[in-house]
Amino acid sequence: MRAVFLAALLLLAGGPAAAADYAPGRPVEEHAGARLDYALKCKGCHGLRGEGTPGHVPRLDGFVGLFTHLPEGRDYLMRVPGVARSVLDDGRLTAVLNWMMDTYGGGLVAEGFPPFTVAEVAAARLRPLEDRKGLRERMLATLRAKGLLAPGEDGIGTSPELRERGGG
Ligand code: HEC
Repeated sequence: MRAVFLAALLLLAGGPAAAADYAPGRPVEEHAGARLDYALKCKGCHGLRGEGTPGHVPRLDGFVGLFTHLPEGRDYLMRVPGVARSVLDDGRLTAVLNWMMDTYGGGLVAEGFPPFTVAEVAAARLRPLEDRKGLRERMLATLRAKGLLAPGEDGIGTSPELRERGGG
């Protein structure tokens, strides 16, 4: 009985009703749905604290905000496959992106970077990202050249075990 009740609660919190009241500029903590959607759809790879999966998936915490300093960064954040191909609808995905920038962007988000709008996310996610690895490499090189990113830092790193063995 209790499990059924909890499942119903989860549905309520994450269902379309929770995303429907989303509007850019409104404090994201008012949207219970975004945090839950992140936990259900992104956390498996990026971690509940945005720490990523060392060696495989970039951390978001203390890193994702860097992309707001590049002209192509905004577009990249909406089109990277984990985002664009999410099963979340446009409204809920937009809420997750804005929640993510608030939660993990921290002080790194460029001043005046506007919240993502549902319309731009809806349009951007339809355009497949060509050569995303090359694009990411070029963006990171620009960030290093700007002095925003330490040499050798890529947000992914090697797993602690590999590091201990001096490999990777
Ligand atoms: C299956 C694992 C996986 C899932 C699920 C996933 N991602 Fe990702 N994400 C990645 C990987 C790997 C990258 C690195 C770029 C690439 O290779 O696609 C990435 C890159 C990103 C980036 C760009 C940051 C960077 O440093 O390149 C953002 C932002 C992002 N993901 C957000 C999300 C959000 C939000 C969700 C949930 C809606 C999500 N991801 C779901 C694996 C995942």
